[in-house]
Amino acid sequence: MTRRDLAVIVVAAGRGERLKASAPKAFVQVNGHTILEHSLAPISDLADLAQVVIAVPETHLAEATEIANDVLTTDAILDVVVGGDTRQQSIANALAVVDDKIEIVLVHDAARAFASNSLFERVASAVRATGASVIPALEIADTIKRVSGEQVQETVDRSSLRSAQTPQGFMAVDLKRAYANASDDFTDDAALMQSQGKKVSFVAGEVEAAKITTPEDLVGVLSRLNGPGRTGIGVDVHRFSTDQSKKLFLGTIEWPDYPALEGHSDGDAVSHALVDALLSAAGLGDIGSNFGVDRPEFAGANGSVFLTETVRMVHEAGYDIVNASVQIVGNRPKVSGRRAEVEAALTKLVGAAVTLGATTTDGLGFLGNDEGVAAVASVLIIKAEGRLGS
Ligand code: CTP
Ligand code: MG
Repeated sequence: MTRRDLAVIVVAAGRGERLKASAPKAFVQVNGHTILEHSLAPISDLADLAQVVIAVPETHLAEATEIANDVLTTDAILDVVVGGDTRQQSIANALAVVDDKIEIVLVHDAARAFASNSLFERVASAVRATGASVIPALEIADTIKRVSGEQVQETVDRSSLRSAQTPQGFMAVDLKRAYANASDDFTDDAALMQSQGKKVSFVAGEVEAAKITTPEDLVGVLSRLNGPGRTGIGVDVHRFSTDQSKKLFLGTIEWPDYPALEGHSDGDAVSHALVDALLSAAGLGDIGSNFGVDRPEFAGANGSVFLTETVRMVHEAGYDIVNASVQIVGNRPKVSGRRAEVEAALTKLVGAAVTLGATTTDGLGFLGNDEGVAAVASVLIIKAEGRLGS
């Protein structure tokens, strides 16, 4: 028999001003999922979970509800409420809908999007065992100074200092009483409890539960999740055809005023160089080993067919594409007038920015005497891990 007496409040109603993104912080994407989605991921499996309450900006009620229904795989009650002007007010709004049968409440910042399930369990168990208020806390690595004006006053003994994280856990009755009696605004619930003389204890926090506050924090999270990027390179060359009935395709689009290129497919050197760059970055071989002449379904195929399949394979291998760059080498076609069109078509197919450049060989060699077109491409991809994948 489970108790089903635990509620988790996730506060996601802040504007995220310091993050300077175009959406409120909880609705900013990391690896293809919002910060809110990531923050909800560890909650469904918590022991005794009976209710989840999420506080969000009024403008994002519908989106948050959809996200929560999608990510939460529990039959616990779900409430999405409108937050307030301060974190504390957002929690007050959430607490107002916490069910009467709830005995333990965990309050969590959506901004601590990658806190682990075991951190939640550690806090909840400590509250259950002691009946006290419990926060996760981390030791401080830096040497800490107390200052006044321009002057350093003293070095503070950091062995007695901790930085506080969430989820913070409370007996529901205590937290509700503290909120009912709140006379000041605090940045965490432990401070509110202590302002009313309540004891708060701590358990070990974790680096993963660090708060995403600034753009630099987001970069740190991404590099922790994804590791360094991987680059790839691709080159392709095709000869101009003498067959006047055929059309030139480069970068997936048609170029009516130029001769076609020869090839097993449509000779689109730009698309093929990009495909090779993507395959090499992901360690998936090359265009020949994947789409060789033994595959009749690709005979005469447009570059978009190869690119679409390659992008699918790269994603399947667990990578996100960051950007790609292609350069055409040759006298023809003249690229500048249609650069934007090619970039738009390729960007859409690849799902990341693709830029196009062009150069000649100063009249030298087979490209200088107009025998054909070459293209060189490079791409950057990153491992898209994170618990929700890409
Ligand atoms: N929060 C909230 N309601 C508010 C303010 C903050 O629910 N009125 C939540 C945030 O969504 C976040 C957590 O409290 O999950 C911690 O706050 P903070 O990191 O300061 O987030 P923001 O207030 O969104 O960011 P900023 O202060 O940079 O605007
Ligand atoms: Mg704030």
